[in-house]
Amino acid sequence: MGHTAAQKTKAAAQEFSAARGREPIEHASRDELQALQLQRMRWSIGHAYQRVEHFRKKCLAVGAHPDDLKELSDLARFPFTTKQDLRDTYPFGMFAVPMSEVVRVHASSGTTGKPTVVGYTKNDIDMWANVMARGIHAAGGRATDLVHNAYGYGLFTGGLGFHYGAERLGATVIPMSGGQSEKQVQLIMDFQPDIICATPSYLLALADEFRRQGIAPDSTSLRIGLFGAEPWTNEMRLEIESLFGIDAIDTYGLSEVIGPGVASECIESKDGPHIWEDHFYPEIIDPVSGKVLPDGEFGELVFTSLTKEALPVVRYRTRDLTRLLPGSARTMRRMDKITGRSDDMLIIRGVNVFPSQIEELILKNKALAPHYVLEVSRNSNLDQLQVMVEMKADGDASTGQGAAAELAHHVKSYIGISAEVRVVPPGSIERSVGKAKRVIDLRPK
Ligand code: DLL
Repeated sequence: MGHTAAQKTKAAAQEFSAARGREPIEHASRDELQALQLQRMRWSIGHAYQRVEHFRKKCLAVGAHPDDLKELSDLARFPFTTKQDLRDTYPFGMFAVPMSEVVRVHASSGTTGKPTVVGYTKNDIDMWANVMARGIHAAGGRATDLVHNAYGYGLFTGGLGFHYGAERLGATVIPMSGGQSEKQVQLIMDFQPDIICATPSYLLALADEFRRQGIAPDSTSLRIGLFGAEPWTNEMRLEIESLFGIDAIDTYGLSEVIGPGVASECIESKDGPHIWEDHFYPEIIDPVSGKVLPDGEFGELVFTSLTKEALPVVRYRTRDLTRLLPGSARTMRRMDKITGRSDDMLIIRGVNVFPSQIEELILKNKALAPHYVLEVSRNSNLDQLQVMVEMKADGDASTGQGAAAELAHHVKSYIGISAEVRVVPPGSIERSVGKAKRVIDLRPK
């Protein structure tokens, strides 16, 4: 009996992927990589300058011209792009190609006001699928794998980003999207996927559902999880790995730069996502002065797209705080875990606190579950922090009280603020379907 067309397509994709393995640029020398970056950066900035009036005006205002770009460090002469620029030109004003060449838009919902709209040409979608396939491959995914994709499909870039990447790799995608946890568990048990893609907080919600159905989360066919779209600590990685018996891989990206697929961790090192620097050029800046900081120093991550056609971004300020680390399993530089977004930073009685710092302390405590929310309020002009965290399912009231006292003590000694800790019964904190909401700020604006 002959092969069906579908089998042939799959076989061709598998061949393509097996031959592909790692792309040569992933292990090129730094010199080769930088030469490519400079060539592409010249094209990208020239393209934005010629086609995006808003960007050209900003360049003219500071006297920067694409011809100034003689070496990579000349990038610092160019103005930053911020979310505000995209808002000011809402919806399509920063697009560098006519709408007839834009084949897709996505949008990220801001906490306030209008969403940020991003656009892709056919070539952009193709490049995105490639960097996603590269990332899934680096995470240990192969053409023979079944990929359960629980990132939301729609305007959010997570669902379709992983979908196209897994297909490009030649794998089989289950386009589940987020939500419907009962059905997710059923399909995972019936289809036996190898890989799951989800926000780390949603995976934890799925763990609850597995237990509710009397299934041990570590008894599934899953081998690898690709987690991102929200900050998560290395303590959370260990928690997820032991809970599900999988390798938990960090994957990073943002809509304005492409979506997921900006940086991905390699399974052999798990030491921070490698930035796909042949397409996205990173800088770390001092968030206050805007000065470029050397590799290794903490600051705000900034990206310049090198190959994007529809929405080239020059020095886009992500507001994500991290540092650049040298390449390890690949030539391309890595980023450290994101400690937080500058806009997620809480200032409590003058002390800067990121939710991830509290998460780290919670997960050090064996009696506490990784479900928490921070509530900030103001009482007689004083900021109050309340940490609400769930007890593990096997705990009782006395372990809960002990854990609350211990966590309050750790928050005081490691972070330097007094917090009221409330340990609540399992299941009392709202579960997320996509990105978790960790902070409720009740202070008057
Ligand atoms: O969250 C794209 C994405 C989808 C990445 C799926 C990974 C997986 P946005 O909705 O535009 O895009 O949100 C981007 O999410 O600036 C970070 O603050 C945060 N973020 C994304 N990945 C990570 C990560 C997608 N691995 C914003 N660690 C970014 C920490 C992350 N924060």
